[in-house]
Amino acid sequence: MSLPVDIIKSIKNVVGKQKHHLHEPLFFGNEIKYLKKTIATNLVSSVGPFVKKFEDQITKFTRSKYAISVINGTEALHLSLVACGVKNNDEVLVPTITFVGTANAIVYSGAIPHFVDSETETLGIDPLKLEKYLEKITIKKGKFYFNKKTKRRIRAIIPVHVFGNICQIDRILKIAKKYNLLVIEDAAEALGSFSKNKHAGTFGIVGCISFNGNKILTTGGGGAIITNNKLLAKKIKHLSTTAKINHRWEYIHDAVGYNFRMPNLNAALGSAQIENLNKFLRSKKKLFQRYCKEFLKVNEVRLIKNPEFSKSNNWLNTIFIKNSSIKKRNKVLSLAQKTQIFLRPVWKPLHQLKHFRSMPKMNLENAKRIYISCINLPSSSHYFFDEKL
Ligand SMILES: Cc1ncc(COP(=O)(O)O)c(C=O)c1O
Repeated sequence: MSLPVDIIKSIKNVVGKQKHHLHEPLFFGNEIKYLKKTIATNLVSSVGPFVKKFEDQITKFTRSKYAISVINGTEALHLSLVACGVKNNDEVLVPTITFVGTANAIVYSGAIPHFVDSETETLGIDPLKLEKYLEKITIKKGKFYFNKKTKRRIRAIIPVHVFGNICQIDRILKIAKKYNLLVIEDAAEALGSFSKNKHAGTFGIVGCISFNGNKILTTGGGGAIITNNKLLAKKIKHLSTTAKINHRWEYIHDAVGYNFRMPNLNAALGSAQIENLNKFLRSKKKLFQRYCKEFLKVNEVRLIKNPEFSKSNNWLNTIFIKNSSIKKRNKVLSLAQKTQIFLRPVWKPLHQLKHFRSMPKMNLENAKRIYISCINLPSSSHYFFDEKL
């Protein structure tokens, strides 16, 4: 049999023969009840009890001290960069293998994305390559490190936990410390992922989560910033609510803020969803284990696995086709689509997009390989979902 046929057969053996999307939301708890409540009280916008309730549920689950809910994960990243003081002309290190929103957020803040390579195991930033690269391209002035070529300060790094797999965060933190870089974690896909018992997004100064419709839990559209830094949390909350000063009737704003607060309606949905997060995680673990077993039979393919030191939320299951090519990968995608299985490749490396081509970058060989070799499998929570567990 051909590789595409083998892959599709394996997928069907795990999830059945019907139509499959990559990731669908699952609503079975208090969603309608809480949404009705927000409508009954007229509190549908940013003021309302569910915003605070949802933020408390996030801090409890992630064991972070503060959570600020916002309109989406991209703006969570943007606001974090601004609040941390990233400015015009700073460079921010970011993997080229990530969703475009990560790099867009850097540009919104006025800074410049500087693309770095990923490793083919976790799909996160390759720490070995990063360290060698920074040694070569930076010059130290005072406490800070500058790009020798562009003369710009390298100010921050955004490690991304791709598809819920924890990246080599400990090693990246060490490098960031050495080069005096702020660490803003993109944990958009990693709600429910841990490394050594610490939740994704709690390693850096801030972490950003997305609750888009395709994520492990959804608020329709939404995001959150988690942090243990009280001052920063206060600043982020203030900036996200148009920098408005509390007053009983006056509209006074002390900075150019943003209208980024999550509406109560979305928070109500999130609040119901997060009540069942552990059930979603359990069903995803089962699905991952089933895929592992099934793909053992396909020699040309390996499943991306979370490293020993971490516990992934298994948001998206990913196969890596050995000795792949674009043609080989596309044959799989095309045949799958014909049989109503909507698989997706990983993102096109961002440095290859027209508007990012002129940005600084290292050699990005691994990223190119990841792009032509990886395919995401149907990964919704409903496959092995058990309400009673
Ligand atoms: C890695 C990554 N970063 C950032 C984002 C941005 O989140 P959102 O779609 O909520 O803006 C997403 C989500 O789509 C993502 O997957």
